Amino acid sequence: MPSFVIRPLQNLPQIRNALGELLVETVANGGSVSFMHPLPLEDARAFWNDSLGAAALGERVVLGAFDSDDLIATVTLLLKLPPNQPHRAEIAKMMTRVAYRKRGVATALLQAAERLAVDRGRTLLVLDTAVDDGAAPLYERLGFQLSGIIPDYALKPHGGLTGTMIYWKRIGAVAA
Ligand SMILES: CC(C)(COP(=O)(O)OP(=O)(O)OC[C@H]1O[C@@H](n2cnc3c(N)ncnc32)[C@H](O)[C@@H]1OP(=O)(O)O)[C@@H](O)C(=O)NCCC(=O)NCCS
Repeated sequence: MPSFVIRPLQNLPQIRNALGELLVETVANGGSVSFMHPLPLEDARAFWNDSLGAAALGERVVLGAFDSDDLIATVTLLLKLPPNQPHRAEIAKMMTRVAYRKRGVATALLQAAERLAVDRGRTLLVLDTAVDDGAAPLYERLGFQLSGIIPDYALKPHGGLTGTMIYWKRIGAVAA
């Protein structure tokens, strides 16, 4: 198993490039993360530029997992929510490089994101994942509860509709 370190990512060219390559690879391999295949690298970099810009404003945290200097996985904690939901945060854009999957990297990133959310006083985490080729077992293993499924919610990267599964988890003091 590789040793890896997790840290928040900043809006730097090499980070945007590594995140862009990770997003393109994830989409090409059928990961449902809002984009269609083939995803141009420039579009992927532009997405991360916007996301990391929002992170610089404190509206989200983009975490990265590194094996030495190589970015091997990422997850985003969305913190900017409407005024009546200050206690909530959302998990998004969870993806691991294909070569590093099934080694516990996503699990560690999700646990780190949850700790960050608790540190910020959030008590409820919400996320969704695709019915086809999503990550439901991973989230359920980490204690997320399934609210329900919306059928035909989105296109898969290579075409064809898939449903989405809505999950939630109480965190921090209220989880006890
Ligand atoms: C979903 C995804 C992020 C998981 O990343 P990962 O780093 O492989 O995740 P983990 O290694 O922590 O866990 C994955 C599985 O490997 C297993 N695993 C973890 N460490 C392991 C090890 N050392 N040996 C064998 N299996 C292991 C886990 O038990 C887990 O099983 P489960 O899915 O049945 O719960 C990755 O497959 C991915 O990027 N998919 C495409 C994008 C996507 O669908 N993202 C989710 C959007 S909501």
